[in-house]
Amino acid sequence: MKEISIIITDKNNRKKKLQAPLSLGISLMEFLKASGYPIMATCGGMALCATCHVEIMKNYELLTEPSNDELNMLDTLPEVFPTSRLSCQIKLTENTPILEIKIRGELESEE
Ligand code: FES
Repeated sequence: MKEISIIITDKNNRKKKLQAPLSLGISLMEFLKASGYPIMATCGGMALCATCHVEIMKNYELLTEPSNDELNMLDTLPEVFPTSRLSCQIKLTENTPILEIKIRGELESEE
């Protein structure tokens, strides 16, 4: 199974490198949740809640471009970065580059 490396920094600045599968057709948001990051993802991946907000630290320009819906949603956030994306709108496919990201969205209450 093909995989890519994703370097993830969480809100406590803990950095971790994980291998993400490319053949399951999942989104980056789904991968992050499955990996134990408590992203709220209230809308279930419909680009409607922005709680899955991530900042792309590496290879932003190699990702497929965000849709207008995604950009409009990002615009509603109080804090947004030049390389912000909604992780539910990034599908992990053969064309996905190695990524480095920072989690920026709202999390489920942390222990
Ligand atoms: S999960 Fe709601 S916008 Fe991504």
